[in-house]
Amino acid sequence: MEYRIAIALLAGLAATSLRAESLKLTELDLSVIKQGYGRPMVNQNIIGKPMAIAGKPFAWGLGSHAQMTWRIAINGAKKFHAFVGVDDSSKDGKGTVVFQVLVDGKAAYDSGIMATGEPAKEVSVSLEKKKNLILKVTAAGDGQGFDHADWAEAVFEYEGSKPVSIVPPVEKPYILTPKPGPQPKINGPKVFGVRPGHPILFTVPATGDRPIKFEAQGLPAGAKLDPSTGFLSGSVAEKGEYKIEFTATNSKGKAERSFKLVVGDVLALTPPMGWSTWYMAYTNITDTFVRAQADAMVSTGLINHGYSYINIDDGWNVIPGSNDPNRGGKARDDQGNLLSNKLFPDMKGMCDYVHTKGLKIGIYISPGKTTCAGYEGSLNHEEQDAKQFAKWGFDFLKYDWCSYQNEVKGDTLDEYKLPYAKMRDALLKTDRDFVYNLCQYGLKEVWKWGEEVDGNFWRTTGDLGASDSYWDSMSAIGFGQAGYEKYAKPGRWNDPDNILIGKVMVGGQLLPTTLTPSEQYTYMSLWAILASPLVLASDLTQLDEFTLSLVTNDEVIEVNQDVLGKQGRRLRVSDDLEVWVRDLENGEMAVGLFNRSEDPAEMTVSLSELGIDGTVQVRDIWRQKDQERTSKSIKRKVPRHGVAFLKLTKVTK
Ligand code: GLA
Repeated sequence: MEYRIAIALLAGLAATSLRAESLKLTELDLSVIKQGYGRPMVNQNIIGKPMAIAGKPFAWGLGSHAQMTWRIAINGAKKFHAFVGVDDSSKDGKGTVVFQVLVDGKAAYDSGIMATGEPAKEVSVSLEKKKNLILKVTAAGDGQGFDHADWAEAVFEYEGSKPVSIVPPVEKPYILTPKPGPQPKINGPKVFGVRPGHPILFTVPATGDRPIKFEAQGLPAGAKLDPSTGFLSGSVAEKGEYKIEFTATNSKGKAERSFKLVVGDVLALTPPMGWSTWYMAYTNITDTFVRAQADAMVSTGLINHGYSYINIDDGWNVIPGSNDPNRGGKARDDQGNLLSNKLFPDMKGMCDYVHTKGLKIGIYISPGKTTCAGYEGSLNHEEQDAKQFAKWGFDFLKYDWCSYQNEVKGDTLDEYKLPYAKMRDALLKTDRDFVYNLCQYGLKEVWKWGEEVDGNFWRTTGDLGASDSYWDSMSAIGFGQAGYEKYAKPGRWNDPDNILIGKVMVGGQLLPTTLTPSEQYTYMSLWAILASPLVLASDLTQLDEFTLSLVTNDEVIEVNQDVLGKQGRRLRVSDDLEVWVRDLENGEMAVGLFNRSEDPAEMTVSLSELGIDGTVQVRDIWRQKDQERTSKSIKRKVPRHGVAFLKLTKVTK
């Protein structure tokens, strides 16, 4: 009896000492939160005003923004409770988000897509005997504009130790790419398309000690190769596929490469590679700046790996009605010809300069009255503008929808195609080749008709966006390309946006990427598997050794530039572990084992799952090293947010 009383007393004591207490979510360390815009707010929405969801005010909670990820150690927490929704402050733009709660890597709550004006949803998640919690807000696949996300009245119940924020592990940069040797090696695309009679601009990309002597066998009439620079130029009148053998010779040896010049109607037979002003400078661009980046594309050696376009994005011409001394003034001359702004005093001189470097140059405009940043657009001047671009010497046009939305009266597919078809016709009337980049964020499933308007590549989504957390948007957009593979082929590419690594502009400052090294390996590997254009977004004059090693790995680039032009596909996904494959020429296959989870993971894929019968040689693409031979399966330990990127070659004995 006494014994029982003692037990009951003890139990009572334990119950009082471990009584559930509550801890507001906002009492945790908020500094570790990564989100796509602004910083997390306490008891206010993301713009610093009182929180309200569908008219209902909430006095306390966390005001956040999409692409948000937050890891929390559960410790003694037993339960998490909150009301979630899009804050009413987003009503001008309509935000759409998904709130997710993951417990020990498994989905414990998913709000589904929630839009502005939708009443708050209640989240109640048991954390009993669990370790890790992740709170997430995704952009619901449509870009993160106006995605003001409230975790209202968010609170833990805990006993004993409090839940605490987890600081993600810090990873030091690790270089996998071997340095190119002194002997010559020809890299980059193995095929190049040009229209009959139009100027050919192609530089044979080659690493190795200079001087290198370039030679070509099988050049068609009209084409010529400069032996000291490797610049292929001239023009070919006759349509046809011309097989050329390039050689590059230096004091250390000789390299050969078979190449095809396709004189026909389709350009960009492999995904375009280059650089763009957007993301590192936005509209703060000048002629001098562009020339300096072109210089850097050569001096860093990027040109030797196949990078060839220097693309000017928004901000090079006049803002109608602006008083800005540099950007205001007349947008067109008396004949209606498009003018550049004062920061670009010599468009032709700048284009010529870029060409003398063996590079090509791109320009940007919108089919509407103005561009996204408010600069003069091409509406009703399409032919005149295309002519002007050709006269200046451009080789590439990014045509960005933006204000054209105001011209759309109905909602028919034809209306969406119209401006792109108009500009295609205008470009085709010029005497230059323009790689044609459709930018309209995937409207009306552009991947299904981009080819019809002769687009060479088209953005499939909203902007990837530089922020203090673009792992979420990069991975959501990159892995979200699954399914578009049937629309890609030589000359027609899906575009998940630029490569934001190195130094990019975040919050008005040029800062090193916030992506971890493993995340950056994932970025490049995924873009290679996806056959996506490789358009760098970082400051080329400030590339550190690690970043340079990431973007110049010739075997990674070779996957991206593979001549079959088959975009890779997702073979399998479960619990944030994804297996992707891409068929390559000569029956080879690239395999990406991607770990999107928060912890390192062991990943396995069997040859039967890959549809391979027999034995393969496995090669580590990043390390450029052969590894095992197997007829069964391949197993790799993959870092958090990282990748094992492999090439499989069938062994025939
Ligand atoms: C849009 C495009 C971006 C960039 C900007 C320029 O947001 O999607 O890629 O061109 O406009 O203003």
